[in-house]
Amino acid sequence: MRPDAVRRVLDAELIAARERRGGAPRVLDVGGGSGVLAVPFAVDGCSVTVVDPSPNALATLHRRAQEAGVSDRITAVQGDSDVLGELVKPASADLVLAHGLLEFVDDPVATLSAMAGAVAPGGALSVLVANRYAAVLQRVLSGKLIDARRLFDHETGALGVSGEALLRRFDTEGLRALLTGAGLTVELLQGQSVVSDLVGGSVLESSPAAVEALAELEALAALTPPLRDIATRLHAVGRG
Ligand SMILES: C[S@@+](CC[C@H](N)C(=O)[O-])C[C@H]1O[C@@H](n2cnc3c(N)ncnc32)[C@H](O)[C@@H]1O
Repeated sequence: MRPDAVRRVLDAELIAARERRGGAPRVLDVGGGSGVLAVPFAVDGCSVTVVDPSPNALATLHRRAQEAGVSDRITAVQGDSDVLGELVKPASADLVLAHGLLEFVDDPVATLSAMAGAVAPGGALSVLVANRYAAVLQRVLSGKLIDARRLFDHETGALGVSGEALLRRFDTEGLRALLTGAGLTVELLQGQSVVSDLVGGSVLESSPAAVEALAELEALAALTPPLRDIATRLHAVGRG
């Protein structure tokens, strides 16, 4: 398995929440879509609420939850982050997730402020976003130089083509400023998949030592600029 600095941080957050509450941690996954995170968290004993406007994604979530036998631990709410305050109670979640969400919403600051209101005392907000500079490098590496230049030049790091759903990508300082602007204290800012996406499967299959070496390098690179700043995704943890 490839190392994942984000999951490690979230697991630590959930252990702390379990100890604090003496019971199942409550997770709110906004834009949680088809349950890529919600289902594993429910399997680990969390009580998870997913808010997402897409009926198709929520149908997949229901199916996955049933298959994993955790339907009773997942609440699916069809709705938009714009009206989050009407959909979930204030201060009701130990861990609030905005993973792959802020790229698509109309107003990221308003979205984060509303999400911060859902964090229970002692809880945290986890934000995972696409890194615009990683996107530029990935286009270059795959020979798409015109797209790379478009991404580089675009005001918000989108491609700027019609029909594109994604409105923006982020850089490290832009992400930090966003959380701060929403009234949050940034406790951690790290990269996800700094070096691990660059290593071929055959290298890892060849020896357990390679897996361990990659895990160690990824953990260091995730927190070390400038390597952190070219990670595929940027991850921030904020508290109110
Ligand atoms: C790229 S997917 C991310 C899914 C999941 N969070 C993950 O990390 O794999 C984006 C999700 O955000 C949802 N979404 C888009 N705009 C939204 C909004 N305004 N409020 C809530 N969810 C939204 C989409 O329906 C989709 O399921």
